[in-house]
Amino acid sequence: MNLKGKTYLVTGGAGFIGSELCRQLKAADASVRIVDNLANGHRENVAEILSPNCVLHVTDIRDLEAMQILLAGCDGVFHLACLGVRHSIHSPMESHEVNATATLNLLRLAREANVPRFVYVSSSEVYGTAQSVPQPEEHPTFPMTVYGAAKLAGECYTRAFHRTYDYATVVIRPFNSYGPRSHHEGDSGEVIPKFLLRTLAGKPMVIFGDGSQTRDFTFVSDTARGILEAGLSENTVGETINIGSGFEIAIRELADEVRCVTGLPDALIIHEADRPGDVLRLYSDTSKAHRLIGFEPRVTLRDGLTQLLAWYRSQDNSPEEMLRTEIVKNWEVSA
Ligand SMILES: NC(=O)c1ccc[n+]([C@@H]2O[C@H](COP(=O)([O-])OP(=O)(O)OC[C@H]3O[C@@H](n4cnc5c(N)ncnc54)[C@H](O)[C@@H]3O)[C@@H](O)[C@H]2O)c1
Repeated sequence: MNLKGKTYLVTGGAGFIGSELCRQLKAADASVRIVDNLANGHRENVAEILSPNCVLHVTDIRDLEAMQILLAGCDGVFHLACLGVRHSIHSPMESHEVNATATLNLLRLAREANVPRFVYVSSSEVYGTAQSVPQPEEHPTFPMTVYGAAKLAGECYTRAFHRTYDYATVVIRPFNSYGPRSHHEGDSGEVIPKFLLRTLAGKPMVIFGDGSQTRDFTFVSDTARGILEAGLSENTVGETINIGSGFEIAIRELADEVRCVTGLPDALIIHEADRPGDVLRLYSDTSKAHRLIGFEPRVTLRDGLTQLLAWYRSQDNSPEEMLRTEIVKNWEVSA
């Protein structure tokens, strides 16, 4: 892909997936305006790609005047900024403001600024627990959490802008992503980084519930490539598209994979009570992405875990040091 001469705005671009998307945009020679308030993102995630053509703007997407200025002259918006699923359990109103209301405002501002393409990065969490598998885009949407509900609202606004105003929007639904820079810390902490780091540090992997809940894990380079290609294709305007691996695994089987990849077959697993609102089954049907943009995931779960393990081993901080910011049970229910 050659994007020389094009300028894209990436909200949430200092985050886990957003920073990988910015790397891929930069590799395609695009200019990138990274917008992130660093609530969960990190300057280090993008430090090595910053240049006069790739600038980090530490800005809140709810600052409409700032967003209006940054949107001027862009060829497209990739909107990834959000607050995550566990955050929504204790702060439902803020989750709605950032994930839903700010999306509506960005759509409005981007259209007013004549930005030709708006790409909304939603989430497989909009489905809730799978009723049948694999899940095509037509699968019913019954989100379990305020996060999933707010992401669904963002989707609906994005599709409505296409239908009402003929605005060229695309909705992308990534399934669970993992890889370098994924979150292990605080209420952003995800299962794969936590399992790997805890195992390396000699601590037990903690499974919430019985571990029969399943996910479709996609390596971050595949997720970002899917967002980029689906976001910019001429075939996808007005469409909603799953980006996943098309491979389903139960969390207790994932723990076995981590034992295998780390070479620690006796690594301990303990079980704690279920997380409220936990989705029990997610498994992507990726045939639409394949049909429209030829999307195929390139990294298997085994290879992706091995790459993430190598990345952890290349970091200055030890697993024990990284785990200082981990919260084992990383959600709380608001009063
Ligand atoms: N990680 C996954 O497994 C996954 C799966 C499905 C969908 N998604 C979606 O992909 C996108 C990126 O997720 P991620 O995992 O990289 O999360 P992330 O938390 O790493 O990235 C989100 C970024 O948004 C920023 N942000 C939050 N509130 C903001 C605000 N008000 N203004 C400006 N920036 C703000 C954060 O600082 C963070 O850098 C999200 O939209 C998420 O819903 C992620």
